[in-house]
Amino acid sequence: MNILLIGSGAREHALAWKLADSKFVDRIYAAPGNGGTAGIPGCMNISIPVDDLQALRLFACDNRVELTVVGPEVPLAAGVVDEFAAAGLTIFGPSKAAARLEGSKAYSKAFMNRHGIPTGWARVFSEFEDAADFVHGLDDLPVLKASGLAAGKGVLLPSSQDEAVEQLRAMMVNRRFGDAGATVLVEERLQGPELSVLAFCDGETLRLAPAAQDHKRLLDGDRGPNTGGMGAFAPSPLATSEILDAVEHKVLGPTLAGMASEGAPYQGVLYAGLMLTDRGPMVLEFNCRFGDPEAQVVLPLLQSDIVELVLACANGGLAEHEPIWSSESAVTVVMASAGYPDSYATGKPITGLPEGLTASGSALVFHAGTRVEGTGIHSERNGEKSVLTDGGRVLSVTATGDAFRTAVHSAYRTVEQIHFEGAVWRSDIGTHLV
Ligand code: AMP
Ligand code: GLY
Repeated sequence: MNILLIGSGAREHALAWKLADSKFVDRIYAAPGNGGTAGIPGCMNISIPVDDLQALRLFACDNRVELTVVGPEVPLAAGVVDEFAAAGLTIFGPSKAAARLEGSKAYSKAFMNRHGIPTGWARVFSEFEDAADFVHGLDDLPVLKASGLAAGKGVLLPSSQDEAVEQLRAMMVNRRFGDAGATVLVEERLQGPELSVLAFCDGETLRLAPAAQDHKRLLDGDRGPNTGGMGAFAPSPLATSEILDAVEHKVLGPTLAGMASEGAPYQGVLYAGLMLTDRGPMVLEFNCRFGDPEAQVVLPLLQSDIVELVLACANGGLAEHEPIWSSESAVTVVMASAGYPDSYATGKPITGLPEGLTASGSALVFHAGTRVEGTGIHSERNGEKSVLTDGGRVLSVTATGDAFRTAVHSAYRTVEQIHFEGAVWRSDIGTHLV
């Protein structure tokens, strides 16, 4: 079977690695892929951007692609699934209508309210003055959210009312996030630890993956600016059977049923970003795809054939499918470029990378922002010196073990062996579980 994988992050490198392990897979095309996907035997990078839906569809038709797997939210929100389905192509992911759960926070909040799914209250504004007046009248500080897709940067946590108004102005008047901030949610600020629960869905049935915890802040101890994620571990000890039961039956199940009843059945991975409050688990956000870096800890724990699982989601029939998960623990540490999440330099040589994906001690080095000098194709001949940094998040170093103690030590041992100028990482991912 030929597979097309859309995306270029560490999540996609992890997906390519898992797909390559399937007995059904002959060849994988990664569009556009990265230095890591190009190094996977049987995987080839093709230079089509993730948002060129027509070029992706033509490529799939011309190259007898039998299954397409979508990593990032941008092509999903743009309707890549509808485009492929109209051409009779099998694709794993939600339709454009279903992807609104992530693509429009205003839609998502209204949907949750219609279906009684627990989430903080919010008011939606499209006029700056109205939003500012509302914020001035609040007793507590809210959270401000750009309604549209803002590459993970559209959520702001002001520390005063004046700051909130300035942030509203930046979003709504100065269009800091472009059109994504034309509509803004002023949302109740919740308290509690956070959990990421991902579920495979076929429109009717869902299957939970082990719950993960992301680390959004740049610095140890959850300090510093928000990032796209600096590390993760799974399964989270916060996810007791009571919590998972509530998430399945009060959040994900009603979401699936609600989407089906509104004519937009949800197929693909549904990701609930939750806060465990004293009122129970409440939804902070839905994502319409695998999390990054959550995928880098969840996929290594999947023991079933991923192709069977995603085909059951895309074609229906998940009810007859029970994925098998390893009982091990997994941790991933993200190595980023100095300056991330703001501006950073690229093109720094990376040394100390393992020959393939697996480092000694069995850690998996997933590439995010990397490229191979010259050809852009990674091969044994190029050697490790030719791999360069090419983004803010550069690598996601994952290790699994019987216990968090072995996984955490193995991941950090591998991180210490890899070098590039200005490399930064958090040193506390999973360490409290050791
Ligand atoms: P998001 O991009 O929606 O995941 O939000 C980024 C981060 O903002 C989350 O991981 C939370 O830490 C925080 N956040 C989002 N919504 C809320 C909320 N309603 N209350 C408190 N914190 C929130
Ligand atoms: N880990 C957060 C996200 O994927 O959006």
